[in-house]
Amino acid sequence: MLLRLPFTLSSALLSPPLHPHRSKPFSSLSSSPNPNPNPNHSSNTTLPLFLRPLSYSAPVSSLLSFRLWAESLALSSVDDPHLLRELSWLIDDASAHKHPRNDSLVPLRAELHELYELWRERIEKRRPFQYLVGCEHWRDLVLGVREGVLIPRPETEMVVDLVGEVEGFERGWWADLGTGSGALAIGIGRMLREDGRVFATDLSSDAVEVARFNVERYGLKDKVEIRQGSWFEPLQDVKGKLAGIVSNPPYIPTSHLPGLQPEVGLHEPRLALDGGENGMDHLLHLCEGSASALKSGGFFAFETNGDAHSEFLADLMTAKWGKFFHNIKIVLDFAGIKRFVTGYCR
Ligand SMILES: C[S@@+](CC[C@H](N)C(=O)[O-])C[C@H]1O[C@@H](n2cnc3c(N)ncnc32)[C@H](O)[C@@H]1O
Repeated sequence: MLLRLPFTLSSALLSPPLHPHRSKPFSSLSSSPNPNPNPNHSSNTTLPLFLRPLSYSAPVSSLLSFRLWAESLALSSVDDPHLLRELSWLIDDASAHKHPRNDSLVPLRAELHELYELWRERIEKRRPFQYLVGCEHWRDLVLGVREGVLIPRPETEMVVDLVGEVEGFERGWWADLGTGSGALAIGIGRMLREDGRVFATDLSSDAVEVARFNVERYGLKDKVEIRQGSWFEPLQDVKGKLAGIVSNPPYIPTSHLPGLQPEVGLHEPRLALDGGENGMDHLLHLCEGSASALKSGGFFAFETNGDAHSEFLADLMTAKWGKFFHNIKIVLDFAGIKRFVTGYCR
């Protein structure tokens, strides 16, 4: 079972630490993804560390020196008990041998000096751990991520479960708007039958590239199509035919951005965070557009900044767009926060 530590975009305000949520090093996973995705989609510098070839080596003593240096740097700076665990994961991902003999060389996926540099960035620049190793655990997936692409959050995982509860979802055409790393599109795509499809859009070319890489790694190119463009723009050909729309759009109010913890505010893309003056700009656009993009009976699930935002959105959809939508509900996330607004198109 994965170790889950609470971290949501909205709880990133006022500096709680950015916790990775995993119990195993990536290199120990033996799941079904393609271990050799098309190298044209990703240069070695953006390939997740655990997928890189073992091109380097270092004496055990040098790796031990790195660990001791990195531990002392961690203990002397940021007050975060998870850092030492991250350090172990970094070393696990970077090296092939768990328990090398004392006299041996340890095969490495990165040069030792790169590990020093990465750790310095983690501590001194508060670069998120997930960008250091180039991936994040999300549901039972290991998704590639890099700067320019939002690190998928645990609370968003629930959207896949909400889709799984929709009658006949397996055969429908779905849209994931603002797909980022492709997390939701891949999570949904894996549950679909042959005729089911996911169309995933994002404005960011970094996100589109990384999402395509992840889709290919999970062998879902026939099911999940990544399209670049703004929200519904790239979906004109499927307008009115969608069985469902999911989205975790940018929803942080602009004035809250300076208060984000450094890992988020300094390193994650503003395009993925900034929801406008009150955080609702994109959500309102998505609700309005869904009325014509969904087919009759189509389902939607939108993630919000929580509580008051969900209530506002659900009330507005009932009052202003009630002639288009029905069965509008607020769904709690695992922390008990009113996180999602769901419903159906009339
Ligand atoms: C909060 S992130 C969510 C990413 C991903 N769905 C997830 O849950 O991890 C929002 C995403 O919306 C994308 N985005 C922002 N503005 C957009 C627009 N106008 N059209 C399409 N995507 C947009 C961002 O690039 C980002 O990938």
